[in-house]
Amino acid sequence: MQAKTLRVGLVGYGFMGRTHSNAYRQVNQFFDLSYRPELVAVCGREANKAREFAASWGYNSVERDWRALVARNDIDLVDIASPNNTHAEIAIAAAEAGKMVLCEKPLGRNLAEAAPMVKAVEQAGVPNMVWYNYRRVPAVTLAKQLIDEGALGRIFHYRAKFLQDWTISSKVPLGGQALWRLDADVSGSGVTGDLLAHCIDTALWLNGPIESVSGMTETFIKERTNAVTGQAALVRIDDASAFLARFENGSLATFEATRYARGHKALYTFEINGENASIAWDLHDLHRLQLFEYKDQGRLRGWRSIHVTDGEHPYMKHWWVPGLQIGYEHTFIHQLADFLGGLSDGARTGPTFTDALETEKVIDAVLRSATSGTWIRCT
Ligand SMILES: NC(=O)c1ccc[n+]([C@@H]2O[C@H](COP(=O)([O-])OP(=O)(O)OC[C@H]3O[C@@H](n4cnc5c(N)ncnc54)[C@H](O)[C@@H]3O)[C@@H](O)[C@H]2O)c1
Repeated sequence: MQAKTLRVGLVGYGFMGRTHSNAYRQVNQFFDLSYRPELVAVCGREANKAREFAASWGYNSVERDWRALVARNDIDLVDIASPNNTHAEIAIAAAEAGKMVLCEKPLGRNLAEAAPMVKAVEQAGVPNMVWYNYRRVPAVTLAKQLIDEGALGRIFHYRAKFLQDWTISSKVPLGGQALWRLDADVSGSGVTGDLLAHCIDTALWLNGPIESVSGMTETFIKERTNAVTGQAALVRIDDASAFLARFENGSLATFEATRYARGHKALYTFEINGENASIAWDLHDLHRLQLFEYKDQGRLRGWRSIHVTDGEHPYMKHWWVPGLQIGYEHTFIHQLADFLGGLSDGARTGPTFTDALETEKVIDAVLRSATSGTWIRCT
C-alpha cells in the first residue's frame, strides 16, 4: 500500500533539529508505516544557515519566521525544536491552525505557560506529542514491560540522576544562541526543567504519579558574562537540583540533576527496587538493562546484564541482527514510528501534551518546594 504523505515543517535547526530530521529521513526505511514524512520546510532566523540545513537534510524550502511556517497550507505537522521560550506561542498557533504539533521538552518554561498549550491541542483535536525520547531506548521500554508484567512486584524505591559537568567554569557565559540554557528568560529553569524533566517523565511512565516532593536547588555561580551584551548578568537558573518524592503507589524516591558533577557528561541513570526484583539503567551504556531477580536459584542469584539487542526486545527487530547495538538517534526514530503508527490506528501516542503537563506539575512543585522549604503536593 502506498504510504500517505505527511508534510512536515520544522522550527529550529540546532541539536534537536538534526535528531528530528534524521528520524524523518530514516523512519520509513526501517518501519512499515502508512505515513511517510515529507520535509517541506525548515524555519530558522538566519537565512544562510537555514538554507544550508535545508540543503543538507533535504527540506524543500526555508522560512525565517515561524508564523509564516504555521500559516502555510502545504504543511500538516509543525515540529518545534527551538528553545523553551518559543514552545508555547508556536504550539498554540500551530494547533489553532489545525496542524499536528510535535514539541521538544520541556513543554513550556513553566506550568503556567504549559497549561494553555494542552488546552490548545485538546480544543483543536490535533495529534500531538512531546519528545521525551528516553522512553524509546529499547532497554528502558523493556523496563516498562517488566514493571507492567509485575516482575518487580510491589515497588519500594525509585532513584534517578542526570549528571553533567559543562558549566563548572565561571568563564562560561550566559545566553545567546549557544548558551540559552543558562538564561532563565529563555529556558524557564535550569537543570530541573532541562535534565530532571527527562527523569520525571520516565519515572511517571514507569512508576505512576508522584504525590508530593521536597526539593532543594543551588546556583553555584551567581554571576556570568552575558554572551550577547558582554555585561555581567545575574544567573537565575538552578545549577543543581535534588528532590525527595513519594509516589502514589507508596514508593519513595530520590532525584538529582546537576551540571557540576566533574567527569560526567550525560549520565542519566535510574534504579528501581521492587519486592521481587530490581532493575537499573544507565544512558552511558544505554543498550543494557541490569536485572536482579530474587526468584533465581539462591547460589546463582545476582545482577544480570541484559544486552538489549535481540529481535524479541522492544524495537530491535527493525534493526540489524542480534548482538548489534543501536544508539541515541534511534530513540527519536522509534518515537516517530510510534507516532506515525498511532495516526493510522487512531491511538494517542505518549507522551502527549497532556502527559507532559504532569511532568510540568512536578517541576513546578520541586521549584516551589526549594523556595519554601516545605513538602509540596503534585496531585
Ligand atoms: N529530547 C532531548 O533529549 C533534548 C535534548 C536537547 C534539547 N532538547 C530540547 O530541544 C529544544 C532545542 O534545544 P537544542 O539543544 O536543539 O537547541 P539549539 O540551540 O541547538 O538549537 C535551537 C535552534 O532553534 C533556533 N531558534 C531559536 N529561536 C528561534 C525562533 N524564535 N524561531 C525559529 N528558530 C529559533 C536556533 O537558531 C537553533 O537553530 C529545547 O527545548 C531543548 O530543551 C531536548
